[in-house]
Formats: sequence, C-alpha cells, structure tokens
Amino acid sequence: QSNSASDSGARGLWSSRLAFILAATGSAVGLGNVWKFPYVTGENGGGAFVLVYLLCIAIIGVPIMMAEVFIGRNGRHNPITSFRLVAERNLVSPLWRISAIIGMLAAFIILSFYSVIGGWAASYIGHAAAGDFTGGTAESVGELFSALLGSPTQLLLWHTVFMALVVLVVSRGLKGGLERAVTILMPALFVLLLAVVGYATTTGHFGEAVSFLFTPDFGALTVDGALVALGHAFFTLSLGMAIMMAYGSYLGRDVHIGRTAVSVAIMDTVVALLAGLAIFPVVFANGLEAGSGPGLIFQTLPLAFGNMPMGSLFGALFFILLLFAAWTSGISLLEPVVEWVEERTSFARTGSAVLVGILCWALGIVSILSLNVWSDVTPLGMFQAFEGKTIFDLLDFFTANIMLPLSGLLTAIFVGWFVARETMKSDLALENGAFTLWYNLIRFVTPVAVAVVFFYNLMA
Ligand code: PHE
Ligand code: NA
Repeated sequence: QSNSASDSGARGLWSSRLAFILAATGSAVGLGNVWKFPYVTGENGGGAFVLVYLLCIAIIGVPIMMAEVFIGRNGRHNPITSFRLVAERNLVSPLWRISAIIGMLAAFIILSFYSVIGGWAASYIGHAAAGDFTGGTAESVGELFSALLGSPTQLLLWHTVFMALVVLVVSRGLKGGLERAVTILMPALFVLLLAVVGYATTTGHFGEAVSFLFTPDFGALTVDGALVALGHAFFTLSLGMAIMMAYGSYLGRDVHIGRTAVSVAIMDTVVALLAGLAIFPVVFANGLEAGSGPGLIFQTLPLAFGNMPMGSLFGALFFILLLFAAWTSGISLLEPVVEWVEERTSFARTGSAVLVGILCWALGIVSILSLNVWSDVTPLGMFQAFEGKTIFDLLDFFTANIMLPLSGLLTAIFVGWFVARETMKSDLALENGAFTLWYNLIRFVTPVAVAVVFFYNLMA
C-alpha cells in the first residue's frame, strides 16, 4: 500500500485500537449525552424518540463516522491535507477539502463556547461540594445560575481554567497527552456515572424512568422530534467537525474501521442511556418537569441534589463527571486545528496548541459577554429567523445547524460517489454483504437524510 511508509510510526500512531476507541468515545461522550440527550428525550415524549434516535445512529451516524475515519487514515495528515490527498489519489478536484475546512472552522468556533459551558460544570463542582445547593429552592438555585451567567469575571475565570486544561493535554501530543488523558478520564467517567445511576435506583422512581425511556409512545413523536433525533445523532457522535478524520489519521492500518466505529457508537449510546437512567429518577422523585429544556441539569438537578441525602457528594460527583466528559470533547475539538497548524507552519506541537488555544479563548470572550453585557446585542435581529438571538446563540446556530450538516453531507457524497469503490472496499475491509450495505447507506440514505435536516433547519 502507498502509505505503508508513513505507517511505520514516524508520525505517531495510537498505541492500540482501544486507545483510539477511548479517544473517539471521549470526543463523542460529552454535554450531548449528559445534558442534551435527557432533555431532548424529555421534550419529545420518551421511548419513541429514543427508538428513532437509535435508528439514526445506526444507519447515518456509523456510516459517516466510518467515512471520516477512512479519510484521516488514508490521508495520514491533518484533515484538510488528508482530504486533498484522498481527492488527488482519486483524480477528483482538491476543492472537496472545503468539507474539512468547514468542519475545522466549526470545531474552532464550537470549542470557543463549549469551553464556556465546560466552565459552568467546573464552577458547579465547587458549589455542590460546598453545600451551596443544600436545602435550595427553585428560586435560590435559579439565582445561583443567573449570578454565574451575569458575571463576566466568573465566567472568564472558569472559561480560562477549562481552556487551559484542554491546551495542556493537546500540547503534550498524541501519546503523552491525548492517550494518557482518555485512559484515565474515560474509565473514571464511567464509574462516576454508575455511582449516580446507583443512587438513582434508591429514589423509588427508577422504574418510572425505565418505562419513560424505553416504552415507545408513537403518538408523542412529531416530525420535528424525528429531525431532532437525526441532528442529535450527528452532534453526539462528533461528526461533521473533522474530529474523526484527525483521530483516524493516527489509526493503524490493521484496525477494522467498521467494528471500531460501531464500538464507539455503542459506548456513546450506552452513556446517553445511563445518563437518562441517572437523571430521570431524580427528576421524577422531585416532581421536576422532564421536558423543562436546556436548564434541566444546571437548574433542576442542583435543586434535587440540594434536597437529597448525601446530595453534596453526589452533586459534586455529577459535575466532576460532566467536567470530564466536556474535557475529553474539548480536547478533540482542539486537536484537528492544532494538527493542521503543526503541519503547515514552523510551530511545534506545544506552540501550535498554545497559539490555537489563545485564539479560541479570545473568541470565547464574545460568548461570555453575550450572556450578560451584550445580552441585548442581536446582530442579525433584523431577520425574523434570528430575532432575539445573541452572538452566542448565533455561533451555536450556525455551527450546529449549518456547518456540521454541510460538512457531513459533503463528506458522504465525496466518499460515496467520488472515491473509487475498490479503495473503499480495501480500506474498510468489510465482508461483501456488509460493504454493500455501508455503500448504499453512504451513497443514498445518508445524503438524503442529512439534506432533509439541513434544509428543514434552514427553513425553520
Ligand atoms: N459529541 C459531543 C457530545 O455529545 C459534543 C461534541 C461536539 C464534542 C463537538 C466535540 C465536538 O457532547
Ligand atoms: Na455524545
């Protein structure tokens, strides 16, 4: 094979298939699993939504993840260069790399505000441990949250802490940084999650949560709900951000991409379901509203933690878990851009990580200010669709609803229609039946489904 030379390890490879799985799972498992999945499930009626979501993971998420890992491993460079190399090897326009450029730009923008939210989780560890929620009321807990969002200095402090943690790991490179961090953080996250689930079984409302999550009520599922499920499948697997390309670029040629992608998707799904089983019993036991939206974990859970036995302990554990989940995702958002700067400039790994980290940190200040000082600033407010959207809201909207699906759509079309079938067949090393299935999904099902969501989002 043409890239056997670079496979000798000069560039560095994950030390095992498990290391890659942990890193990719570390990227996938994040606020999306612990914060978003429970509340969108709550808003969309439970079981039926979960079923559609699982279907989307299987027939759209996994095939796209395989396509992204393929590009990274076949190109063996940063996502943009890898895309160009794969295009050149298949005699098609190098302009296809626009997909990776959009994805990396999205990763950079997302990290700038993801770090701000990661900072919330970090600050809540201290609040929980200090007993600030103890005996709390909806009002006092709500005030604490608004006080945090209203304080630029506090937000800046925690945003800085979070970004520093991310830069620290990425600057140490593949083995000393990324691998070491995920092999400690991921098992820890799993144990913490099981501890909180264990607590949830004692609330007396565990059965209610199980039936809420697993009894499909198709009457409660709307078309909107199905589209949310598809969009979330994308977000939760960290697709459309060049992340799996960057991580795939360090993957050994002997590793089976299909089985690996399936493992990552299963782990991500298990964590999301466990998060549901950790959170909903607490929600039901305290008479909280399952469909209460984004505030679910920052406003309602502290209320629950504040009024349960050993709530300070479990509250602190929960927010540590959230911080770890966000940290490994933050690392994955920084890596593609750092890999690119490292390869394309004379900066070494550390310099690249610090440089990109500082730029991203600076962009994050815009999101911080739009939560308070600039909360009335709505730059696109003259358009009806963007009425009332702050700069933070706009960054979130454009990345999640436009850049990610667009990048994913282009990747699916590129791999499905412009890369030689033979290359795909040998790189993915799937048996005939499985290959035909994957090929049909990536050529037809995935692009159509993503396009539907994309245009639906644009209209809405
Ligand atoms: N996949 C992560 C989650 O579910 C979200 C994420 C998005 C992580 C983008 C990294 C990059 O929370
Ligand atoms: Na996820």
